[in-house]
Amino acid sequence: MCGIVGYIGKKNTKEILLSGLKELEYRGYDSAGIAILQNGVFSNFKAVGKLVNLEEKTKEFKTNDFAVGIGHTRWATHGKPTELNAHPHLGEHSYVVHNGIIENYAELKKELQAGGVTFLSQTDTEVIVHQFEKNMKVLKNSFEAFKKTLKELHGAYAILLVTKEQSDTIFFAKHGSPMIIGINEQNENYFASSDTPLIGHCKSVNYFEDGDYGYAKPNEIVIFDKTDTKKEAKLTPLSQNRLSAQKDGFRFFMEKEIYEQSSVISDTLMGRINDKEVIFEELSPTLFAGINEIKLCACGTSYHAAMSASYLFERYAKIKTSLEIASEFRYRDPIMTKDTLFVVISQSGETADTLETLKMAKAAGLKTLAICNVDNSSIVRLSDATILTRAGIEKGVASTKAFATQVSVFWMLSLYIARLKNSMSEDAIAAQISLLREVPAHVKVNDAMHERIKRLSKRYLHGHGFFFIGRDVFYPLALEGALKLKEISYLHAEGYPSGEMKHGPIALADPELFTIALLPKYLHYEKAKSNVEELSARDSTICAISQLEFDKADDFIQINECSHYMLEFFEMMVVLQLLALEISIRLGNDVDMPRNLAKSVTVE
Ligand code: G6P
Repeated sequence: MCGIVGYIGKKNTKEILLSGLKELEYRGYDSAGIAILQNGVFSNFKAVGKLVNLEEKTKEFKTNDFAVGIGHTRWATHGKPTELNAHPHLGEHSYVVHNGIIENYAELKKELQAGGVTFLSQTDTEVIVHQFEKNMKVLKNSFEAFKKTLKELHGAYAILLVTKEQSDTIFFAKHGSPMIIGINEQNENYFASSDTPLIGHCKSVNYFEDGDYGYAKPNEIVIFDKTDTKKEAKLTPLSQNRLSAQKDGFRFFMEKEIYEQSSVISDTLMGRINDKEVIFEELSPTLFAGINEIKLCACGTSYHAAMSASYLFERYAKIKTSLEIASEFRYRDPIMTKDTLFVVISQSGETADTLETLKMAKAAGLKTLAICNVDNSSIVRLSDATILTRAGIEKGVASTKAFATQVSVFWMLSLYIARLKNSMSEDAIAAQISLLREVPAHVKVNDAMHERIKRLSKRYLHGHGFFFIGRDVFYPLALEGALKLKEISYLHAEGYPSGEMKHGPIALADPELFTIALLPKYLHYEKAKSNVEELSARDSTICAISQLEFDKADDFIQINECSHYMLEFFEMMVVLQLLALEISIRLGNDVDMPRNLAKSVTVE
């Protein structure tokens, strides 16, 4: 997690660092800091909380002419979100910023303390700067000291380090956490954890590989790979289309992103369907040759999209499909056979747990496919093949439009595989494709519906918990609805299979238990209805979502008429997103940056 920026050049270093951090704030926002080295003097500022606090603190501070600067926005792993724990961390004459976790920090810290070093923070990061300075005393060469330090660190990191000993230089290293460098004609160097801070400053960038390290100074970038072999920067053009989302009159990015779903799903379908078939030009049909099983692996919302896919793949493509939570899969000695296609799903393409499972699958010789929203992300670069969801930049921490495009891709992919495997007739595939074309219309937010949910939301601000229930593909949707609510309202919510409620959770039923029931007309309606009636009989407060009137509910949200359960899925998805949004707004929460969360979790 965390976001990192760095700059070497003559422009307004402070502004460049702060605006870069603004773009990365979604990666963590419990504190932020910058350190700028100019004319041999360091200036360092840190502030707890969101970036505005740091902006406020640095208001009077000016930089002019040549400077070297690094900045960081933090999502706490080791140590509370305090100013002392905020990066950059200081040694005697150097500063460091770091994203990742130094696993052996405790041992290193002990040795350093035994050698007389005083630590100011509780972070793992601080050992890097002290270890560097310790090595510096012996080696008397900054780069050699930096290199030795890296060899002594275990764990994941992206690091930028500046030192007075070499005041025109930034030392960098990447191992498991993202880092890129951008270069431009004015000989400036820009570092960042992702593309966005560099847009408008650089036309081309180098994506560091794991194990890369080196240094940059005016007119010179020196990169070594993990085998200590010098290598050239591999420059890739950087898109200049600044998608830096504005809220466009919406109250929150999340709200804007819910409203954008219709157009981003259209984008995701574009060029990928005709009347008869699904076409993924990015996939070679040989990807599925010899494949008897698909394993889907992800975290969070992406995991819920994957779970929906598991129903579609078995139902339409008739292929055995299994599902894995990435953080579990990593450590459970899984059996991986080469007839399995390993599919990772990630909005950001940087989630550490998901990335690690991809590495495991590759090491076991499996074919891999990524469903991802960020081109050039670590996951995309590592996978054998990628289908990009075209959701655009998603800023709200609670994922909405990314989920919508993931499920759209999975629906398409199930039909694509069905055709390869002849598991569905041509007519049946064509019929499904025409349904897919209807999705953008079904996710358009209708004012009356939004108004109704806004009004209804005031009844759901208390209680002792929420159960979101559904069957089949509506079970992952129930999980996702519950996750949305928890993430931004901080109310306790669980997703549950409707049929499983009677095996325990029904004991909780009383008027203060809210059940949000998904009742699709076209998938097990009668069965799901009976499950809701069981809860209604025990006096749970029921909010039913369906296209069919349902008189056993306390509240009823009627979706538009749909001719297929997947269209009902998308209609209900929007209702659940809006419900979470409106409850959170009424509770006065920061919808886009909910407490304790971050958009992209690059630590395990
Ligand atoms: C974090 C985010 C979630 C997201 C999950 C997986 O927890 O807060 O919204 O679903 O990571 O992220 P990914 O980028 O891999 O989809």
